Amino acid sequence: MTSKAHGGDLVNRQVTGSEREKALKNAESLPSLFISDWAISDLELIGIGGFSPLTGFLGQKDYESVVHTSRLSNGTVWSVPITLSVTAEEADSYQVGDEIALKGEDGVIYGTIELTEKYAYDKQLEAQKIYGTTEEAHAGVKKLYERGDVYLAGPITLLNRPDHSEFEEFHLDPVETRQLFQELGWKTIVGFQTRNPVHRAHEYIQKAALEVVDGLLLNPLVGETKSDDISAAVRMESYQVILKHYYPADRARLAIYPAAMRYAGPKEAVLHAIVRKNYGCTHFIVGRDHAGVGDYYGTYEAQEFISQFEEELGIQIFKFEHSFYCNACENMATAKTCPHTAENHVHLSGTKVRELLRNGEKPPKQFSRPEVADVLIKGLRETVTSN
Ligand code: ADX
Repeated sequence: MTSKAHGGDLVNRQVTGSEREKALKNAESLPSLFISDWAISDLELIGIGGFSPLTGFLGQKDYESVVHTSRLSNGTVWSVPITLSVTAEEADSYQVGDEIALKGEDGVIYGTIELTEKYAYDKQLEAQKIYGTTEEAHAGVKKLYERGDVYLAGPITLLNRPDHSEFEEFHLDPVETRQLFQELGWKTIVGFQTRNPVHRAHEYIQKAALEVVDGLLLNPLVGETKSDDISAAVRMESYQVILKHYYPADRARLAIYPAAMRYAGPKEAVLHAIVRKNYGCTHFIVGRDHAGVGDYYGTYEAQEFISQFEEELGIQIFKFEHSFYCNACENMATAKTCPHTAENHVHLSGTKVRELLRNGEKPPKQFSRPEVADVLIKGLRETVTSN
């Protein structure tokens, strides 16, 4: 093991081989519940230990503790509630003590839950506490408001994995990344969360980190994102291209993080750090407006929030200032290293970049590597034609 998992040992709620066959057969005769792709991704992350120490969807005591104190009821740091929502009518059809088969829209039984509790919750309160706003315009809050009014809680068993065949080569579970780091002889590993293509600013902070650690785990989130984010398939292609052209082959690895994006800014930064610790990383990057959306969070709010837990997290946080290319320095820089005025700095909004790419235009090379821009232009064109 490269490092400890959060809260103790790495959780494993998967069953395999004949035990799985038996469990699946048994699950066919259980009461069943159709769950969303988001819930399936949470189920998977619990099952494979990405969400260690969670062994199931949160019960009320833990839920309230997480919402109010960013800790589980036993005091372990945990900042975003991992919950399974159902409508009140659905909740009425299950009894505490039931074992329930959790099915996807495709009819596949992804796992089971032993129902220990069902409880109502306050969506506005959760929105305010976790997302810092009750506005529906916030992508994460919108999803929360669409959920059923009751949470089901209890330990889960993971029986089938969602289909990651598209990214098979890059689909590694926490046990596997830990193993990989050992094989590579990496003792210090920086994890990098992203839901975007890797631009020059991302590259700059990753490489600044790489100056002091053994290796980089580029760990893009590939679960549900908001509709105007660039698709995971296109991004994955862009990551491979940038790694090939601009990173030393023996110092960086690409693996997917199969979670849904919450856009919960500071609270999600803590979750992201915990998960990367579980994947075996020793360091984690929190840059500018980590996991932010719109203007809901301050530029360094995530860094400030995570600071209070740093001693206990067991993963070291690399905090980076807003980075940019400076035409006068002819270099990537931050306010810490560049003396020039803002007009020398290349700043492009995500909206502006998407607009350029959609028109088949490359953003300036100070912003995006040309090889990456080519992949994105092609990818966006294909997305438009297939819609
Ligand atoms: S996120 O929602 O996954 O955080 P994004 O993919 O844009 O969004 O960011 C990935 C990581 O890079 C985050 O830690 C973020 O804070 C950081 N980051 C993004 N852009 C910059 C930048 N220009 N300067 C410094 N850090 C940045």
